[in-house]
Amino acid sequence: MSIYRFTLLARPKRANGGGAPTEKNLASDALDLRYPSSSQNDRDRASAVFSGAVVIYRALPAMLELVECIRDITRQALKVTDPCLAESLLESPDFRHRASSARKVVRENDDVASLYRAVLREAGVDVSAAFYDHFKLRFQPSNEVSRTRYMRDLPVHRDTWGSNVHAQINWWAPIWPVTTDRTIGMFPALWDVPVLNTSADWSYPEFIRQLKADKNTAYPMLPYCLDSLSPSDAVPVVVEPGDIMAFSGAHLHCSIPNQSGIVRISTETRTVSAHDLINLRSAKNVDCNAPASQFDWFRHIETGESLA
Ligand SMILES: [Fe+2]
Repeated sequence: MSIYRFTLLARPKRANGGGAPTEKNLASDALDLRYPSSSQNDRDRASAVFSGAVVIYRALPAMLELVECIRDITRQALKVTDPCLAESLLESPDFRHRASSARKVVRENDDVASLYRAVLREAGVDVSAAFYDHFKLRFQPSNEVSRTRYMRDLPVHRDTWGSNVHAQINWWAPIWPVTTDRTIGMFPALWDVPVLNTSADWSYPEFIRQLKADKNTAYPMLPYCLDSLSPSDAVPVVVEPGDIMAFSGAHLHCSIPNQSGIVRISTETRTVSAHDLINLRSAKNVDCNAPASQFDWFRHIETGESLA
C-alpha cells in the first residue's frame, strides 16, 4: 500500500479531531516520569510503560559498573582520555573510524553483556523470559562531518513502526552526562495520537538488500514520520550516568539535535518479555501499519534463542 493510500484510507482519526498535531496539543501533556524506589516486576513495568510512562531506575550498582566498563572501552577505542571531546581532538575520519570500532567492541563484549543482564535484574526484569536485540553504544556527534548512518541525530519515530512488536521496551542510559540540548526527547502529547509515517511501505529485508548492494544506499534505516514535527517540540529527558530509563517502543521520540560541541555518548537496548507476550501486555497500536512483525530481531538474553 502506498503512503498516499495509507494517508487517505487507513489513517486513524486523530484524538484531537484531525489535522496535524498542533503546538497546543504538543504542549498539553506532561511526560509521565516514574522513579521506582526498588526493583519492579515485569507486570508492573509493563503496566507503566505500556500506558506511556517513562520509568527511570536511579543509580543501579550494575549500571554504574556498566558505565565504567563502557567508558574504558570507549577511551581505548578512541585513544583519547575524554571521548566527549573527541570531535575536537581527532580528524573527522579518525573519529568516525574509532567510534565505529568502539561500537563494535561494546556489541560483542562479554563483560558488557554480563553487566547489562545484571542491570536488568536489578531493575526487576525476569531475564529468563527476556529477549533483546543488541547492546548498543550510541554516539550523537555535534558536527555534520562526524555523522554517519549510525551516528547522527535520530529523527522523530516510534521504534514499533519498524519492529511492529508492541510489547517492545526500550532501555536508554547515558555513559557521560547529558544536558537538555544533548539527549533523548519524547513527545508525551502524541503517545496515543496517530501521526503520519512510512511504516506501511518500509521493508527491513529491502533495507538489508539495498545496504548489501550499496553501503551508502538512501533507503531509510527505519520508517520515519511524515508529519512536520520538530525535535524542538520534544521534551528532553536528562538522567545521570548510572541511571537507566525504560519506555515503550511505541513512544514517539527523537534525538534532541546536538549542537553543543560535545559528543553525546549513551547506550541502549530493546527487550521483549515472554511474560508480556503470553499475558497480552503491550502498547496500543495507534498508527503503525507495518506489514510484518520483526520477532526475529530479538534473541533470548541468556541462551541466544530467537523469539521468532
Ligand atoms: Fe528509537
